Amino acid sequence: MLAPEEVQRMQADALAAIAAATGLDALKAVRLAHAGDRAPITLANAEIGALPPAARADAGKRVGTARAAIREALAARQVELEAERDQRVLIEEAVDVTLPWDRGLEGARHPVTIMSERLADVFVDMGYEVAEGPEVEAEWYNFDALNFPPDHPARETQDTIFVEGPDPAVRSGVVLRTHTSPVQIRSLLTRPLPLYVVSPGKCFRSDALDATHSPVFHQIECLAVDEGLTMADLRGAINAFVEAVFGEGLQTRLRPDFFPFTEPSADVSMQCHVCRAESTKPGADPCRVCRSQGWVEIAGCGMVNPRVLVACGIDPDRYSGFAFGLGIERSVMIRHGVADIRDTFDGDVRFSRALGMEA
Ligand code: PHE
Repeated sequence: MLAPEEVQRMQADALAAIAAATGLDALKAVRLAHAGDRAPITLANAEIGALPPAARADAGKRVGTARAAIREALAARQVELEAERDQRVLIEEAVDVTLPWDRGLEGARHPVTIMSERLADVFVDMGYEVAEGPEVEAEWYNFDALNFPPDHPARETQDTIFVEGPDPAVRSGVVLRTHTSPVQIRSLLTRPLPLYVVSPGKCFRSDALDATHSPVFHQIECLAVDEGLTMADLRGAINAFVEAVFGEGLQTRLRPDFFPFTEPSADVSMQCHVCRAESTKPGADPCRVCRSQGWVEIAGCGMVNPRVLVACGIDPDRYSGFAFGLGIERSVMIRHGVADIRDTFDGDVRFSRALGMEA
């Protein structure tokens, strides 16, 4: 075992195994096999003591040289393999900071939501509070308290979606609210005066779906009740939102109309924000937003009917108020020249994108 050829063979085996180790784990196994406690060269070293004294020095030198060579080879390979590993980690774990990261489509608010918030913001900026009411509403709030007579045609099932009733046994049925005006009543009954509220929300009517009608749509309602409010205040509030949403300097026009809960009542038109009435001049290009009328109808309005105030326990000799309501889809359609209301809920992202999505 201690013969020169044997020691040389052990050294050669060890060096070959070290050179063949391709990774740090493999080198660890090689170290154990060729330099560990039970490695041939270690066992050979232990044999030296058993040799006759004259032979010990030679054998000790041979084995010592071989063990030193193995140790050095191990150390050198260790350094090499660590360097290789570090190099590999640098490549494998490298982060390519130029890779695009925003591949997923980001969610965004719908144009109807954006319009609703924009309208509400105009009033919140003027000091109004946002008030909301239920979509499933008592018939009393939706109609009776708003001074609709019991036989008013709007209550008929072809206009109103009834959840309960209108069976005479049910004294006040339950409906899907047909407008946001019941929030006027809820606000008047629960909030202190003076009162300035804006109420956006979903409404329902049993209309057949076509380019301008949808059984589900949104309205926004404004109600102000204070001492000394007049139609001039109503006019001012309407002008403020028209200018904020459709553009500065647009004129508004009020024409007599009828709503049971306002007296007097009017419909509100604004000067067409696209052609600014240019299309009405002889020989001018037609305007598709106002159909060359120069005006577009945008809202219903009026002074709160004293009977509504009385129904809510408010003294109509001391307080007066104004209210108006408008369709949000309709506002989106007018503002962006959308011809078909169905585009507002088809869910086609190309529609939302074209109108400028906001996150
Ligand atoms: N609620 C009415 C409608 O749906 C609109 C309106 C609101 C009219 C407030 C006057 C005052 O047509």
